[in-house]
Amino acid sequence: MLVVGIDLGYGFSKAKSQSKIVQFPSLVGEAVASHYQVVSNGVGTMFISPEAKAVGGLAVSRSTIQERREDRSWFLSETYHFLLMASLSELFPEVSVGNVQLVTGLPVSYISTDRDRLKRSLLRTFKFHIAGRPSQAFAVQDVIVLPQGYAAFISEVLDPRTGAIVTSDLANAHVGVVDVGCGTVGFLGIREMKDVPSETASFPGGTWRIVSQVRRYLEDKLPGLALGDHEIMGLIAEGRAVSYYGKTVSLKLVINEALDDLAGNIVSRITSLWGSGAQMDRVYLAGGGADLIGPKVESILAESNERLARNIELLNQPQTANVRGYFAYGLRKWRDS
Ligand SMILES: Nc1ncnc2c1ncn2[C@@H]1O[C@H](COP(=O)(O)OP(=O)(O)OP(=O)(O)O)[C@@H](O)[C@H]1O
Ligand SMILES: [Mg+2]
Repeated sequence: MLVVGIDLGYGFSKAKSQSKIVQFPSLVGEAVASHYQVVSNGVGTMFISPEAKAVGGLAVSRSTIQERREDRSWFLSETYHFLLMASLSELFPEVSVGNVQLVTGLPVSYISTDRDRLKRSLLRTFKFHIAGRPSQAFAVQDVIVLPQGYAAFISEVLDPRTGAIVTSDLANAHVGVVDVGCGTVGFLGIREMKDVPSETASFPGGTWRIVSQVRRYLEDKLPGLALGDHEIMGLIAEGRAVSYYGKTVSLKLVINEALDDLAGNIVSRITSLWGSGAQMDRVYLAGGGADLIGPKVESILAESNERLARNIELLNQPQTANVRGYFAYGLRKWRDS
């Protein structure tokens, strides 16, 4: 049986098996002929069946039609299923037939209503063919759905190879987690490994907000630059300038402004949900947006509550924290089965 952690985010898909971790943009696009020549470069996946589609890195700049969903029931969509199949194939490119036990997550605000629907949609056999690989079939036998963000914390507590509890002081602690994703920001209070409902909520509006602000600026100041959302996200994440008719234009100011807005928003949510935060032993920042937004959140918070600001810690490799937590949880749950 293959234990797999899957985190199909609104921006990036992350997946983990015992020996491998993969991540790629959550994009599914039309397959165009030129794709077939770059199949082996590892940045994306080219489906031949159930339909010709380009997934991940291949879809960012080459597909003419891209699909990027942001709605709540996207996990029932074809896009979601293509991202899942691509994840399984990237983890196990040589496997023709496999049985899978899968751990994944949902934003905390949706989990109680959507958990069973998500489980039902995943408990089936996924059959597909990707260029350069054998035809593959993965039968999903078992599914666990955890709250996003909770798993990021779990990744700090459980051993990634065995699922055993390795940091027992943390397992007994009262912590807060802020999971900054592209589409969602999750806030979780966790005490002795259980979530504290009154300290837990998730809100739409993660780092895509920064992309929208930068996009509006580009449309206004540099018309004619046709950049996709993931390309703009790349510019922001790497702090790169853009080239416009041969001139280099810095985006620092507009990015800074957008980061300030999002960080301010996160700080007001922290304060309204957790008050002074004095009850928490530590507050972790997780999710791929944590690197970008962390320093701003700390400095804005320091103006009103310096002690809480000092109690904030950025998780290691924050973008894959959830998926590493899903995988370790699966190991713990199924290690004897
Ligand atoms: N190579 C990269 N290119 C662009 N952004 C990156 C890259 N690596 C990390 N990031 C950062 O990761 C963030 C996305 O975080 P994450 O993958 O946690 O979101 P998500 O899980 O897809 O979203 P959600 O949780 O809302 O569904 C981006 O906003 C960006 O700041
Ligand atoms: Mg996420």
